[in-house]
Amino acid sequence: MTLGERLAATVALCALLALILSVVACESRDTKEASAGAQPFSTFAIGPQPGPDRGLPRAENPYANDKTVLADGRRLFNWYNCSGCHGDHAGGGMGPSLRDSLWRYGGDAPSIFASINEGRQFGMPAWGTKIPRDQIWRVVTYIQSLRTPDEPDPPR
Ligand code: HEC
Repeated sequence: MTLGERLAATVALCALLALILSVVACESRDTKEASAGAQPFSTFAIGPQPGPDRGLPRAENPYANDKTVLADGRRLFNWYNCSGCHGDHAGGGMGPSLRDSLWRYGGDAPSIFASINEGRQFGMPAWGTKIPRDQIWRVVTYIQSLRTPDEPDPPR
């Protein structure tokens, strides 16, 4: 092999190595960005979904119609200071009323769960990383009992 040939081979090898390294670097960067943007605690779809209706799984309230968790939901509502923004009996304050029949983001159980779990844009904190899912469902069940005869500790 002449010196020129050796040089050419070395250059080619370096170029190949650089290419492999850059591909590896790009891949790892992509993965990082994807995981930073993803919300691992979100389990159901929010907003319009692209493509045909694939029947995405709906979150089910494990305590639907379970009146035994209502008092605990009420306790947690005060404990986590939801009442600080939404009012003692959820009648509204800095945050909107959760007692009235108006919902900005939906009053069904999965929507209320999503509001609490993921937060909402105009000032509702995301609690999903702070509160166990089980407790969020208890609070959801309590909120859905407001203004019904089952409401624990109703306002006088
Ligand atoms: C720092 C104040 C603050 C705290 C604390 C807070 N919220 Fe909120 N919450 C808000 C605001 C403000 C909104 C309205 C957000 C919007 O319109 O985008 C909201 C919205 C909501 C909604 C959606 C209401 C609708 O009309 O769709 C629910 C449900 C809710 N909060 C429940 C809770 C629960 C349960 C807790 C306690 C775990 C809590 N919030 C704690 C400020 C707060």
